[in-house]
This record gives sequence, C-alpha cells and structure tokens, in this order.
Amino acid sequence: MITFKRCMLFLGFAFLLLFMVPIDLNKKNDDDSEFRLFLKKYNKTYNNVTEYQFRLGAFKASLNKINELNNLRKSNLSAWYGLTKYSDLFEDEFLDDHLMDDYAERQLLRNHVDTSSSEESKSREVRQISGLPLKIDWREKGVITPVNNQHTCGACWAFSVIETVEAMNAIKTKKLVKLSTQQAIDCAGYNNNGCDGGDMCTLLKWFIDKKVKIQTEEQYPLHLQTEKCKSNNTVDGVQIKKFACDSLINDENYILATLAKHGPVTTSINALSWQNYLGGIVQYHCNSQQKFLNHAVQIVGYDLESEIPHYIVRNSWGEDFGDKGYVYIAIGNNICGIANEVSALQVV
Ligand SMILES: *[C@@H]1O[C@H](CO)[C@@H](O)[C@H](O)[C@H]1NC(C)=O
Ligand SMILES: *[C@@H]1O[C@H](CO)[C@@H](O)[C@H](O)[C@H]1NC(C)=O
Ligand SMILES: *[C@@H]1O[C@H](CO)[C@@H](O)[C@H](O)[C@H]1NC(C)=O
Ligand SMILES: *[C@@H]1O[C@H](CO)[C@@H](O)[C@H](O)[C@H]1NC(C)=O
Repeated sequence: MITFKRCMLFLGFAFLLLFMVPIDLNKKNDDDSEFRLFLKKYNKTYNNVTEYQFRLGAFKASLNKINELNNLRKSNLSAWYGLTKYSDLFEDEFLDDHLMDDYAERQLLRNHVDTSSSEESKSREVRQISGLPLKIDWREKGVITPVNNQHTCGACWAFSVIETVEAMNAIKTKKLVKLSTQQAIDCAGYNNNGCDGGDMCTLLKWFIDKKVKIQTEEQYPLHLQTEKCKSNNTVDGVQIKKFACDSLINDENYILATLAKHGPVTTSINALSWQNYLGGIVQYHCNSQQKFLNHAVQIVGYDLESEIPHYIVRNSWGEDFGDKGYVYIAIGNNICGIANEVSALQVV
C-alpha cells in the first residue's frame, strides 16, 4: 500500500521525468520570453534585428551573472540581484555608459591640483571612537533631497558633491534647498569635464580656490548635458569653507564618526557589480582596489544594529534603481572601495 506521502513523492518524481527534458530544451525560449517581458517592463525598443540579438546576448549574460551573485548570498540580508534597467548591457558597455573607467587618468590630472585636505582632517578629532550611536540616518533629519537621476550624463562626481553641500547647508541653516549640479557640470575647472567625467576632490578644491557661490537648482536648472557656464560670483549662493579628501581604509570607524558627528559624506566607489542590484547589503564580489574606482556616491548614514552592519548609500541612478535609489554596503572591509577616498565638507 502506498502511503500518501510516498504517493506524492512518486508523483513528483514522475512529473520530473515527464517535464525535465522538455524544460531543458526550452531553456533558450524561456530566456527569449523573459527578454520580451523585460522589454515590455522597461519600455525598450531596438532599431533592428541585429541590435535585438545583440541585446538578447547581453541580457543572457546578465541572467548568468545574477545567478552567480545570488548563489553567494549567505543571509537573507545579503544583496540580491535581478533584472534592472541596465540588464540589456554588456558589462563593458555598462562601465562605458554609466561609470568612469579612467581612474588612472583622473589621478594624473589631479596631481596638478593640491587636494590634500585642510589640516583639520590630518589631526583627527576622533581617533579612538567611543559612544557612537548604533544608527545614523540623515534622511530622517530632513537634510537629504530626493534621489537624483544622472541618466547618461557622467557627472556622478558633481551630483555626489552637491548632494553633500545641500545636506551640510541644511544642517547649518535648518533649510533644505536643492542646489545646482548643472553649475558644477558647466563651470568647474581643474580638468573637470562636465558629463564626460570629473573628480569630487578637485571640484571641492575649485569651489574653495575660486570662492564659488553655488546657486540653487531653481536658478540654475539641470539639463544633463555640458553647456556654457552661466554663473558668476555676483549672485548669492552657498560657499564651501573647507573639505577633506582622505583614504580611510582600515579606518572605517572614522567614516562612522564623521557620519555621526559631522554629517553625510561623498565617496568614490567601484559600482561595476551593481548593474543588476535590487536591494540588500553588498558584501562580496566588488573589487576594492583604488584603480577600479569608477563612480561617486553619497553616504547618508549607517546601521550597526543590523545583523550585517552597513552603510546607507545614496546613488544617482534614479529612484527606480536599487532599493528606492539606495544601495547598502557592508562596513569594515573597504567593500567596493568605499573607504579609498572619502570626502567631508563644511559650508561657510
Ligand atoms: C515608452 O517609450 C516610448 C519611446 O521611447 C515613449 O514615447 C513612451 O512615452 C514610453 N512610455 C512609457 C510608459 O514610458
Ligand atoms: C541596426 O541598429 C544599430 C543600432 O542603432 C545600427 O548601428 C546598425 O547600423 C543597424 N543595422 C542595420 C542593418 O540597419
Ligand atoms: C530573514 O531571516 C530572519 C531570521 O532568520 C527572518 O525572521 C526574516 O523573516 C527573514 N526575512 C526575509 C525577508 O526573508
Ligand atoms: C551674473 O549671473 C547672473 C545670473 O545668471 C546674471 O543675471 C548677471 O547678468 C551676471 N552678471 C555678469 C556681470 O555677468
């Protein structure tokens, strides 16, 4: 006599036998129909069959990477991956179109500009850190503007710095005002190059040297392309008093202390592995070496109470990317190079 449980097992096995082979043969078509759903969801159209096939190839490569990364999850808080608006790009295209892949070059250009920080950052106030709050989230304090979307304008360096100027200005004045990223895109000197890329530390140095008054976004609106500079120092605006640009590898406590006692910071990061990021805490497979830094973001807080202590990172790829525009990065191992170049600032 077959027990109920056995019967279920037997049926299950028969079911597998019947369907396993056809499912495998249909794998190709499954990917194709998944691709059609993806195109619909993200409202994508391609010019011709050649391009369609090329994008389908990139899409399949993304599916493989998504599988690989999801297999590494060790906790249900670990980052999870799936289809995003970037999933029809090959990794090198993603790097080209949405990140800055010229770190060495930018580093060379920077050498002509002394961005060594104001003495402040060298004689650090807080070394041995004690009494840090377990959780800091500047979003809850009303000093963080909505998530930006840089689209294909490679000005993460300007967005991430202006975001922190906005926050520091709001902390000081108790008024949150959206400031002009376009002004930095159009006007910044010191080898900064608008939507074709730039560097957060030389931007800050330029703000200070030229006593730049940063206008509001309303006065100097965002166009997401590099245009002629339309600002001058006869207008009112927010000025930077001092800034730091420091390597804090093995000293992430100092990042936490800055977040707790000072305010949000801007940092360089390697975002290559974020292409298909959906949420959760990034813990692995994100090269931290300085030469791979290809993006800049704002850190708006941290959470040490979590099972996986992490930073709260605000990205600039729209609210429809990641976790409502945010990415969570584990604290402690310079994950994604988050501690290589950290920049804090003060407004006048
Ligand atoms: C879909 O894309 C087309 C062409 O790019 C655009 O005109 C249309 O407004 C988009 N629709 C939605 C819902 O995004
Ligand atoms: C197909 O579209 C791509 C991308 O727009 C274009 O570069 C290519 O020349 C097109 N090919 C044909 C055969 O029209
Ligand atoms: C994650 O795991 C914890 C504990 O194992 C559980 O309480 C929680 O419901 C899980 N969360 C999700 C989203 O699965
Ligand atoms: C400075 O900029 C403001 C705002 O764009 C403009 O109205 C003004 O004419 C400019 N002044 C000079 C001297 O260029």
